[in-house]
Amino acid sequence: MLASVVREYGGPEQLRLEDVPDPVPGPGELLVRVEAAGVQFVETQVRAGRMAGTPLAPPSLPWVPGSEVAGTVVATGEGVDPSLVGARVTGRTGQGGGYAESALLREHDAHPIPERLGAAEAVSLLGTGRTAVGLTELAAVGPDDVVLVESAASAVGTLLVQLARQAGVRRVVGLARGERKLALAKEFGADTVLDYAEPGWSAALSDAGVSVVFDGVGGTIGREAFELLRPGGRFIAFGFSSGAGTTIAPGEAEQRGVTTLDYFGPPTGARSPEVQHRQTRDLLTAVAAGRVRPLVGQTFPLRDAAAAHAAIERRETVGKTVLLP
Ligand SMILES: NC(=O)c1ccc[n+]([C@@H]2O[C@H](COP(=O)([O-])OP(=O)(O)OC[C@H]3O[C@@H](n4cnc5c(N)ncnc54)[C@H](OP(=O)(O)O)[C@@H]3O)[C@@H](O)[C@H]2O)c1
Repeated sequence: MLASVVREYGGPEQLRLEDVPDPVPGPGELLVRVEAAGVQFVETQVRAGRMAGTPLAPPSLPWVPGSEVAGTVVATGEGVDPSLVGARVTGRTGQGGGYAESALLREHDAHPIPERLGAAEAVSLLGTGRTAVGLTELAAVGPDDVVLVESAASAVGTLLVQLARQAGVRRVVGLARGERKLALAKEFGADTVLDYAEPGWSAALSDAGVSVVFDGVGGTIGREAFELLRPGGRFIAFGFSSGAGTTIAPGEAEQRGVTTLDYFGPPTGARSPEVQHRQTRDLLTAVAAGRVRPLVGQTFPLRDAAAAHAAIERRETVGKTVLLP
């Protein structure tokens, strides 16, 4: 089968299409003919060799990136119901291997794709979806909240904006760069949108402040957002697409009466595999019922995985980026 393989850390050009052996399903596994593979921002950082601060250990090379796939089951391993062959499923592969024509999923990680949902839409709701649901649950957003979402036109951002709206919050503020992304954030439910590429963007919010910050960008933007929190507010960092995390001095949050919530805790309790599975299932159900709209912003053929990574790094993408083998 064909797969996009990284043999050396470096630029997007390190992703090269190769002929590799077909995976063979082991006990409890499904072999899926991939119809759509999700691209995650963190995979661009890992590919570049910038893993410091991410929850991922550097993968051993050669590495086939991709932890989110959707497609049709073509074979089953020992202990798996063989009648699953032909089923349309989506799930997280766990150890990469998604940028390929075929991939393995553990049976208990696979979700049936709801009817009327395309493979690309389904795959856009996996890691990204459970992250957005998990963050919303962690922050326990409610009617009194003014919620600030950074990179509000991104894969996680467009879902966070919608989930905050659904929780009935008082106001959603969407931050993004450029007119196109600001218009999208508005379309997906942000009440107020601000371009954080404009110096002084936070002045418009500094009097009233905000009660929740979802920080996926970090760096100076995360810091400026942190400073908008009023007492009782919650700051939830879950990424650093700017290249650096948000710096908060020890004791600073307590001094300001603000709570920092840790999204990257151990894989237990609210982050256990069972809870994360339920979070993805909830979102697939919400989308199938028309309550949440997935945004597959751009698709690339599998052979153009390098172009997909380059587009993400140039900040050209909106919503989820998906590869189509
Ligand atoms: N998707 C997941 O499953 C998941 C899970 C856990 C954590 N995260 C983390 O959450 C963050 C957002 O994820 P995502 O899936 O929504 O990513 P995404 O769709 O690729 O969007 C990332 C956005 O970050 C913004 N950005 C700000 N500074 C940037 C820079 N210097 N270079 C590139 N982009 C920059 C861009 O929006 P603007 O141009 O509007 O600024 C960009 O569109 C990432 O840090 C990711 O690692 C994601």
